[in-house]
Amino acid sequence: MIEIKKGMTESEIEDYVNYVLEQMTLQEKVAQMIGNGINIKVLFDGGFGKRVYDAAGSEKYNIPSFKFTDGPRGVIIPGSTCFPVSMARGASWDLDLEERVGDVIGKEVRANGGNLFGGVCINNLRHPSWGRAQETYGEDTFQIGEFGAALTRGVQKHNVMATAKHFAANSIEKARFKVNVKMDERTLREVYLPHFKRCVEEGCATIMSAYNKVRGKYCGHNDYLLRDILKGEWSFQGFVHSDWIHGVKDTVGGITGGLDVEMPRAKYYKFKKIETALQESKISETLIDEAASRVMRTILRYTTKEDPQTYEPSLIGCKEHRQVALEAAEKSMVLLKNEKDVLPLDKKKINKLAMFGKLARVRNTGDHGSSDVNIKKVITPLKGIRNFLGDSIEVAYDDGKDPRGVKNTAKEADAAIVVVGLTYKDEGEYIIEKRTGGDRENLSLHDDHIELIKAVVSENEKCIVVLIGGSAITMEGWKDHVPAILLAWYSGVEGGNALAKILFGDVNPGGKLPFTIPKDPQHLPFFDKNAEEIEYGYYHGYTLFDKESYEPAFPFGYGLSYTSFNYSNLNVEVTDDKIIATVDIKNSGKVAGDEIVQLYIGFELSQIDRPVKLLKGFSRMNLEPNEIKPVKIEVPYKNLAWYNPKSKSWEIEQITYTLYVGSSSRKEDLLSTQFNLRN
Ligand code: GLC
Repeated sequence: MIEIKKGMTESEIEDYVNYVLEQMTLQEKVAQMIGNGINIKVLFDGGFGKRVYDAAGSEKYNIPSFKFTDGPRGVIIPGSTCFPVSMARGASWDLDLEERVGDVIGKEVRANGGNLFGGVCINNLRHPSWGRAQETYGEDTFQIGEFGAALTRGVQKHNVMATAKHFAANSIEKARFKVNVKMDERTLREVYLPHFKRCVEEGCATIMSAYNKVRGKYCGHNDYLLRDILKGEWSFQGFVHSDWIHGVKDTVGGITGGLDVEMPRAKYYKFKKIETALQESKISETLIDEAASRVMRTILRYTTKEDPQTYEPSLIGCKEHRQVALEAAEKSMVLLKNEKDVLPLDKKKINKLAMFGKLARVRNTGDHGSSDVNIKKVITPLKGIRNFLGDSIEVAYDDGKDPRGVKNTAKEADAAIVVVGLTYKDEGEYIIEKRTGGDRENLSLHDDHIELIKAVVSENEKCIVVLIGGSAITMEGWKDHVPAILLAWYSGVEGGNALAKILFGDVNPGGKLPFTIPKDPQHLPFFDKNAEEIEYGYYHGYTLFDKESYEPAFPFGYGLSYTSFNYSNLNVEVTDDKIIATVDIKNSGKVAGDEIVQLYIGFELSQIDRPVKLLKGFSRMNLEPNEIKPVKIEVPYKNLAWYNPKSKSWEIEQITYTLYVGSSSRKEDLLSTQFNLRN
């Protein structure tokens, strides 16, 4: 008999799975298709996330179970490293860093006894009201796909099965269990699926199906998505597991739809229900064999690989891992405004610093749903500033509640930092039982936060607004009255230390927006958090703003630095299968800094309805003062294609394209040239 051993080859695994399938009873096969149970009470009494959740596996046949843990900002089991939320890391545009975040998470999943990570959340940010915006990387499918692939690479290095979720079009939170999302084929193929395909191409081991419907069918039952596209066209070899509790609504629907595993426990995939469906010939045992073999094959693929290292519990939340969280926080913060060079603050010119706002001194790492990383020692903004300054400068803290006190504190200080924004009460996963989270009521700051900003800036012109949140915040009522604005995000366990280093110039901010911040919320697509049905259009974010010539408050890809960068010598070479763009970047300022070079392709001359331009490449690099670096970014022809619903195929237009390269999606920030492809 073939035995399970480290280093099994694909064909040995295949032989073993086929052998076991022949031996297994129906009940043993069905056991591969379900989570091994969970006490629902545990889910909502704070018990969720205290441990890994078992599913599938067979002791009799020496097949390990898969051991699930979440989530996008780190392992959710207490004590693990809490990173800045995914949206913040999306603002770093640093794929190497994202892979290293995945590397840390992979180690901590294993050190916690897990082998499956449910945290590659890559749904489009279609509208900033979405309650779980913080869990994805941005609004653009190319950027989301590159980040999901990077996190997948890092996690899977440690033989942990990554899960890309929620497949697909899960971009409303409150209505997620019921909403039917409609969209035409080009929108599905070109906007809502490419980032999942990118992760499948990267070898992502598993996919989590979404709760919502797409074109009338629950994603957990959607044979077009799961069988025709994912397992058919994309040749996905892993398995699909459902979102939890409500991810399956029907035994036959799930099995014929291509859903392999019901999580976290059997409800519709109970043995009796499957047995009945078989007896009534509503499903065939072939489908059971397919699901069971996908699960066993994937588990064996990952659990029989040689481990690159050992995974002691001491790895969990260790100092080295906190360092990666610090780097991620430093690289993700986005400087949106900095007039009169208010920033960086100069320690030599400040005797007294004032810091305002409740959020300056609370643990505020993001929402309290399934992505909540339960870690106590979080460096708050106030703690970070105090760590940084020690006794060198007096720091006056004011929670902002008493307007008179605020004005006095502001007047007496040499500079004033106002920390405002959102918390898990404003946005997050909608936990019905706990009545927390959900989609945002509005996109602006709370009124009391706006009042606080106005009170401080009325007494101190050196007023710096620090924004906390996981998505776009509209600022029209106050942004023109303050000289400096820094988007600091939910910045994880080391966020306060990163903030202090940026405010005082030890770190030069290099983050750029992974979404559009509108002036007018009316410029955003229609959004209804209670929708029963909704149509997703082909345009949202910067493609919509380009198409309609809307003026954003801050555009996609925008972010300032303490230095300045100049672009020159844009060139394009067209080969048989890709275009190669080269450009020179110069740091023309006085301090070193990171620049994120963005490459867009313009379709102005397209014969069909297409975006004005699309992001097709980016690169983050560090430059010393006066340093000039050549940058090369390649775009394969296939990335220029559009999906033709008539021919059911991807087609490349023979037109003149525009190549844009620059520091943001704003036209004035882009160099451009034109090119034609080779026939
Ligand atoms: C939740 C989330 C999903 C998460 C799962 C397990 O409902 O939608 O993202 O991975 O349940 O926590």
